[in-house]
Formats: sequence, structure tokens, C-alpha cells
Amino acid sequence: MKKYLLAMAIVVATASMAFAGVPYVLPAGGGVNTGQYHSYDGLICTDCHTLHNSDGGAAVGEAGYSGTANRELLKRGDWTDMCLSCHKDGQNTSATAALDGVEDSGWVAPIVMTLDGVDPAGKSLPAGDFYYSNLDPKKGHNPAYTKGSMTTATSLFMTADPVLGSTPPGGAITDGEWSCHSCHGMHARFSASYSAWRQVKRKVNGVVVTGDVSGFGVETTAGGETQNAAYEPIKSNSRGDLQNGGLDYVAARKDANPLEGADLFADESDTNKNVYRGGFSSFCSACHGDFHGGKDETRTTDNGKTRVSGTWLRHPTNVKMNEAGSKYGISTYKVVVTNKQATNPNPVGYDWKYPLVQPDDNFTVKRAVASYTDAATAIGDDKIMCLTCHKAHASEFENMTRWDTNAHAFIANGTTDHTGGVDQIAGDNPAYGCGKCHQKGGAKAFVKAF
Ligand code: HEC
Ligand code: HEC
Ligand code: HEC
Ligand code: HEC
Ligand code: HEC
Ligand code: HEC
Repeated sequence: MKKYLLAMAIVVATASMAFAGVPYVLPAGGGVNTGQYHSYDGLICTDCHTLHNSDGGAAVGEAGYSGTANRELLKRGDWTDMCLSCHKDGQNTSATAALDGVEDSGWVAPIVMTLDGVDPAGKSLPAGDFYYSNLDPKKGHNPAYTKGSMTTATSLFMTADPVLGSTPPGGAITDGEWSCHSCHGMHARFSASYSAWRQVKRKVNGVVVTGDVSGFGVETTAGGETQNAAYEPIKSNSRGDLQNGGLDYVAARKDANPLEGADLFADESDTNKNVYRGGFSSFCSACHGDFHGGKDETRTTDNGKTRVSGTWLRHPTNVKMNEAGSKYGISTYKVVVTNKQATNPNPVGYDWKYPLVQPDDNFTVKRAVASYTDAATAIGDDKIMCLTCHKAHASEFENMTRWDTNAHAFIANGTTDHTGGVDQIAGDNPAYGCGKCHQKGGAKAFVKAF
């Protein structure tokens, strides 16, 4: 018996050494598994699924649950917990994933939840840090309700919002879940069901927000869903394409333009940023419908939601920054500020700290190229969107806004801005927060002390 156990131990050790030393390389030239976990052919089905909920005679279900078998044959009963088992800091590698029996094949997953609210150096969380959703549910989305349990929260890793529960302000959820999987899929990088922007689902809350976008030079996968014409599709791509409709994953858009998602394994900055294109406001409005006047929102058309009798009732989104007749827009976005330090602290170009949707066919703003010093990159056809002011997951501020909207719309010389960085160019700056586009006191930084 002893001899048998020893032999087993050697077999196990050899097998795991082989895995740790040689990461699985996709045959189609796609690179190591680490970069392509969710590509369908890079997936290990049994990392997440258990066929009989039994291993060596013991139940596979996680501690805290009954250990009884879960729907979809999953290792965890809650879908958000499935994702956070690999996407929470500390459990985001194949050696540390909080799931029974994951193959240690050498991958590292991007994190969406830290343990302390601090972005680790060399990593970025452009959608924000779910740590803050747990710290204070007002600061983020709290998707804690798995499929079929809309009234009782089921997540172990994500606190439920005690005020909002699973009801989105300005809308309702009709598809029976409030989880990571409300917005994302996990069986492919892009497919008939998932768009190539961060695997965001094409059909969100029963609405097909994005369908076939090959006409915009995005991924070639046709999409099994028919685009709902009232919504605008997402036209950015962070997940690649199949070259010329072939079988190789390539790290580019279909039209050969570069990918537009920030590298999640590098710090977020002007040279490592998300570039937004298409229906990001439409995406949010699948659940928060009352807050958006639709894909053709303008400052002249009443839509009954955001605009009535020629005036705004809710802040415009998806309107062009050069809408005729507007006092505010691209010129106030990049206004030259006069301050006591005799520098212009307001970036003259596209500012990643206040992202705008890029026009479909203009590729001036690039993920890896600086733009805030280049005036040609902030143009009138750019549009304001939900993500100009909000993060998609959570932020350190109430209502998951990018900056603290309960504080002054002014940044004093040398103080820290909402990204934690000292103001980009030294000097008092009234073009900060709401003041980025609305300098209500003019473009002179005459305010000195509070
Ligand atoms: C990263 C975790 C993960 C991996 C790996 C994974 N799945 Fe899933 N799977 C899920 C989750 C979560 C659900 C439930 C949500 C849903 O139905 O989309 C699911 C649902 C399913 C379903 C039922 C719903 C449907 O789409 O038909 C099938 C079948 C399935 N998975 C098969 C597979 C196969 C086959 C593989 C390997 C190629 C695989 N899964 C790999 C997480 C995973
Ligand atoms: C078994 C581990 C594992 C599980 C479970 C898992 N992921 Fe991942 N995920 C990874 C790895 C590894 C990567 C990085 C490789 C890649 O991009 O494919 C990744 C990448 C991603 C990305 C892409 C980020 C980018 O670069 O654009 C998204 C989005 C994502 N996962 C969402 C999910 C969601 C949603 C779930 C749950 C339904 C989930 N994942 C469950 C391991 C996992
Ligand atoms: C309300 C919809 C929604 C929910 C719920 C949601 N996401 Fe996301 N997620 C997004 C969007 C939109 C982006 C892209 C954000 C952007 O481009 O600014 C994103 C980005 C990501 C990324 C890329 C990293 C980043 O910071 O941009 C990963 C990985 C990811 N999500 C995983 C998850 C996981 C895991 C969960 C559940 C714990 C989750 N998401 C819940 C909408 C959502
Ligand atoms: C799948 C549905 C869904 C989508 C898509 C969605 N949300 Fe939400 N959102 C909710 C729900 C449910 C709540 C309330 C519960 C909570 O906060 O977790 C909520 C709450 C919020 C809150 C208030 C947070 C708080 O706790 O006070 C903000 C702000 C918000 N969403 C912004 C957005 C933005 C911006 C987008 C697009 C990136 C978006 N939502 C997309 C479902 C959604
Ligand atoms: C110009 C900035 C800005 C834009 C654009 C914006 N929001 Fe907000 N949003 C805010 C601020 C600030 C708050 C805080 C509450 C308030 O003052 O209204 C907020 C609050 C919210 C809330 C919480 C409401 C509640 O009851 O707690 C939701 C949900 C929300 N926004 C969704 C959206 C969606 C969806 C879009 C796009 C259609 C969007 N926001 C566009 C700035 C913005
Ligand atoms: C990225 C630029 C941008 C940011 C940031 C921004 N806004 Fe706006 N805002 C606009 C645009 C564009 C309009 C539409 C102006 C028009 O139609 O004349 C607008 C309209 C408004 C209006 C309605 C004006 C009217 O004529 O009825 C108010 C009020 C407003 N914004 C307040 C805010 C507040 C408060 C904040 C910060 C929480 C904010 N905005 C942040 C661009 C922005």
C-alpha cells in the first residue's frame, strides 16, 4: 500500500511539473493559455464544471453551501462566485483559484476585486474595483443574485446592496439574475453570444444591445442575435478577431486597426487606456432605460425621458460634443485655463480620465499612444456617455462615479486628482470633475484657498 501511494505521488508530481513548466500553447498561433483562457479552445471545461458533483466520493461544492449538486453542473452555486473564484486578487492564478480541482496550467487572470482597494502596481482595473461594492454598496454594482434567485442574495464574495437589492434605478431586471453573467459570458473571447469587448454579452437583460458589427470592422463572428435597432452596438474590440474569417486568433480588429482595450497587466495611463467606440450608453440603458434618450439622443429632439419641451430633464448621454447651439462641448472640454502658475493645467487633447466615445471611422485616439497633449485628438464628433462619469463595476466614490461628485469641482496646485495622480500639468485647475466641461466660473483659476 505504501509503495502504491509513493508511486502515485511521483506520477502526480511529474504531471504537475509538466504543466507548470510548459504552458499550454494554442496550436493556431494564439500564444500561451494565459492570454487566451476564455477562448473556446483554450477552456478546460472541468475547471468550472463537475460532472457528478463527486470526486473521490466527496462532494465538490464549496464550503458554505450544502455541498449538493449545483445547476449547470457548476462547482459553485452562485454565478458571481464562479467568476470571482478566479478574478479576485489572491485567487487569480491556476495555482490559487478558489475552485476544487483546477488544472495548474500556468494562467494568471486579471483581477476585478482587490483585498484593500489599492490597484496593485503593474495591473489595471479600468472598470473599477469591486472591493468598494463590498465596503459601501453605494459605491458600486453589487451583482450578488444568481439565476433564479432575484430576491435572496446568494453570493459569498459579493455583498448585496441593502437599498437597491437587485433593482436598477430607472429600470427593471427581467432576465432573472443580477450577477457577473448579467453582463459577461465565459465560454469564448467573442462568439455568437459574446461581443469582443471584454466578453460583454450581446443580449443583456433580454435586449440585444449589440449584434453583428463586422460592418464596422470589428469581429467577424456574425452573431446569432439580431441587433435591436433602437440600441447602438458596441464597436470597440479588446479580444481580437479571426484573421480574414479564418481560424487563427489575431490580436487586432477585423479592419486591422489595433485592439482598443487597455492591457490589464500594466498600469492604466494615457498610453494604456480603453478606447470607446459605439453603444456604451445603450449597453447601460438595457437596465437603466429611463436615464437615456436612446441612441439618437440630441439637444433638439424631445424624447420624453431625458429631454422634454426643449429642456434637459436628465443629463445628456451619447450626444455629440459639438452639438450646434450648445454652450458646452468639446471647446469647454479642452479649454485653455489661465492660472497663477502660468501653465495650462487642462489637457488640450483627449483626456482618458474623462473618456468620450470615438466616431466610428476615426482612429486618432489610440490605446497605446498619448493623446492628452495632442489637441487633434479631442474632436467635436466625440460623444459623452455613461462611462464618461461612471465606472462599469465600482469606484471609490458614491454612485460609482469616476471622481468625487460630493466634493469641489476644482483641483488645487499639487493636490491629487481622482485617479490618484498629481494634476497632469502643475497648477490650479477649475477644469476638473463637472468643471471639465462646465466652467461655470470661467476659465480662470482665481480660487486660491478653501
Ligand atoms: C470559466 C468557467 C467555465 C468554464 C471553463 C466552462 N463553463 Fe460552461 N458554464 C459556466 C457557467 C458560469 C455557466 C452558467 C451560465 C450560462 O448558462 O451561461 C455555464 C453553463 C454551461 C452550459 C449550460 C448552458 C449552455 O450554454 O448551454 C453548458 C452546456 C456548458 N456550460 C458547457 C461547457 C463546456 C463544454 C465547457 C468546456 C468547453 C465549459 N462549459 C467550460 C462556466 C464555465
Ligand atoms: C478558472 C478560472 C476562471 C474563471 C472561473 C473565470 N475566468 Fe475570466 N479569465 C480567466 C483568465 C485566466 C483570463 C485571462 C486570459 C484571457 O483573457 O482569456 C480571464 C479573462 C477574462 C476576461 C477578459 C479580460 C480582457 O482581457 O478583456 C473577462 C471579461 C472575464 N475573464 C470574465 C469572466 C467572467 C464573467 C467569469 C464568470 C462567469 C469568469 N471570467 C470566470 C480565468 C477565469
Ligand atoms: C453591469 C454590467 C457588468 C457587471 C455586472 C460586471 N461587469 Fe465586468 N465589465 C463590464 C463592462 C462594461 C466592462 C468594460 C468596462 C470599460 O470598458 O470601461 C467590464 C470589464 C470587465 C473586465 C476587464 C477588466 C476591467 O477592469 O475593465 C473583467 C475581467 C470583468 N469585467 C469581469 C467581471 C466580473 C468577474 C464580474 C462579476 C464580479 C463583472 N465583470 C461584473 C460590465 C459588467
Ligand atoms: C444587467 C443590468 C444592468 C446593467 C447592464 C447596468 N446596470 Fe447599473 N445597476 C443595476 C442594478 C440591478 C443596480 C442596483 C443594485 C446594485 O447597485 O447592485 C444598479 C445600480 C447602478 C448604480 C447605482 C449604484 C449604487 O449602489 O448606488 C449606478 C451608478 C449604475 N448602476 C450605473 C451603471 C452604468 C454606468 C452601467 C453601464 C456601464 C450600468 N449601470 C449597467 C443593473 C445594471
Ligand atoms: C455627466 C456625468 C454623468 C453621466 C454622463 C451619467 N451619469 Fe449617472 N450619475 C452621475 C452622478 C453625479 C450621479 C450621482 C447622483 C446624482 O447627483 O444624480 C449619478 C447617478 C447615477 C445612478 C444612481 C441613481 C440612484 O438612484 O442612486 C445611476 C443608476 C446612473 N447614474 C446611471 C447612469 C447611466 C445609465 C448613464 C448613461 C445613460 C449615466 N448614469 C450617465 C453622473 C453622470
Ligand atoms: C464630458 C463633458 C461633460 C461633463 C464631464 C459633464 N457635463 Fe453636463 N453637459 C455636457 C453637455 C455636452 C451638455 C449638453 C449641453 C447643451 O445641450 O447645451 C450638458 C448639460 C448639462 C446640464 C443641462 C444644461 C442645460 O442647458 O439645460 C447640466 C445642469 C449639467 N450638464 C450638469 C453637469 C454636472 C453637475 C456635471 C458633473 C456631475 C456635468 N454636467 C458633467 C457635458 C458634460
